[in-house]
Amino acid sequence: MAMTLSNSVPSACIVCLSASNQFYLPSSPFKSLKPPLFWPWQKVKMGPLTVSPMGFGTWAWGNQLLWGYQPSMDSQLQQVFNLAVENGLNLFDTADSYGTGRLNGQSEKLLGKFIREFQGEKRIRDEIVIATKFAAYPWRLTSGQFVQACRASRDRMQIEQVGIGQLHWSTANYAPPQELALWNGLVAMYEKGLVKAVGVSNYGPKQLVKIHDYLKARGVPLCSAQVQFSLLSMGEDQMEIKDICDSLDIRLISYSPLGLGMLTGKYTPSRLPQGPRGLLFKQILPGLKPLLVSLREIAEKRCKTIPQVAINWCICKGTIPIPGVKTVKQAEENLGALGWRLSSNELLQLDYAAQESPRRMIQNIFQTK
Ligand SMILES: NC(=O)c1ccc[n+]([C@@H]2O[C@H](COP(=O)([O-])OP(=O)(O)OC[C@H]3O[C@@H](n4cnc5c(N)ncnc54)[C@H](OP(=O)(O)O)[C@@H]3O)[C@@H](O)[C@H]2O)c1
Repeated sequence: MAMTLSNSVPSACIVCLSASNQFYLPSSPFKSLKPPLFWPWQKVKMGPLTVSPMGFGTWAWGNQLLWGYQPSMDSQLQQVFNLAVENGLNLFDTADSYGTGRLNGQSEKLLGKFIREFQGEKRIRDEIVIATKFAAYPWRLTSGQFVQACRASRDRMQIEQVGIGQLHWSTANYAPPQELALWNGLVAMYEKGLVKAVGVSNYGPKQLVKIHDYLKARGVPLCSAQVQFSLLSMGEDQMEIKDICDSLDIRLISYSPLGLGMLTGKYTPSRLPQGPRGLLFKQILPGLKPLLVSLREIAEKRCKTIPQVAINWCICKGTIPIPGVKTVKQAEENLGALGWRLSSNELLQLDYAAQESPRRMIQNIFQTK
């Protein structure tokens, strides 16, 4: 299978085949060996866990409404999973609410199946970290209900322990009394050993500090905070969250690093995806020209692709991106975001181009202050 390789191999050996960043080593004695996409020391400590500098997101795996999922995609998704794991990725993000209608929980089910059927070394399989999220449904009002939710996720995946148990969102904006049940739920699932570590998602700077302090007082380390973080959602809030994460030793996981697909360069105002994404993209894409032009310029100069540059930007900002992937081609391409780094001038150019672009991604409705 054509693989995207690190550019950490000597440049004399590398032939850049195309803008899809596929390299091969024509006369190298190491031709049959795949250079690693990242070195062991580039792995990231996340509380008690060690994860790859990038993970894959699986929101689309079971979601028909937004992402056009069909069960016929499963064998390709399994190849995506295998390809990722074989190339050193060990972080997969999912949620108990992923999967529409009767397919609710499908993303967790597929991940569990793919782990069980993974043919590689047991050691590699054991290192896989599943980060799932528990929805703050209005009927989940006690910590016990969150423990139950965690057990249900574990059962769907048929795994003993969840890697990271995350709160999907905070209820502080609309049901503050429920918030304590969420926090105590995390404490209880951690104390019962149902999860190796705990994290949050869609928590803003203020609420993040509050939950961090609460959990710390209960003896539970908060290992990760997941927020929308990309060139399309850059703003003061994002940088403030990043600073807080750094000061509290929390890892920031960047979700929607490709702006739901808008930062891939494949969509234009006249070429929109089907369904609700099309409506959103129609509003935002016309204002993205400066950013997409810069992304393309850097991609071409570096023999990379636009998605690779957009994901690499998240890595260079010190975050762990979890791009969503639906096909082997996308997985191969996104793996090519690893093994190299944008220069500081390129980062500045992209930051500037992002500011120049008049439209931003809409913020998640559950995101708190
Ligand atoms: N905590 C939260 O509230 C929250 C919210 C959102 C997402 N997330 C997590 O973050 C993950 C990633 O975010 P996301 O899926 O929303 O958006 P994303 O990563 O910004 O975009 C993913 C989509 O872009 C397209 N794509 C990906 N790689 C591509 C490539 N190389 N070339 C062309 N197209 C490509 C695919 O869709 P098409 O092929 O259909 O264009 C893919 O599904 C999710 O899967 C989920 O795990 C969490």
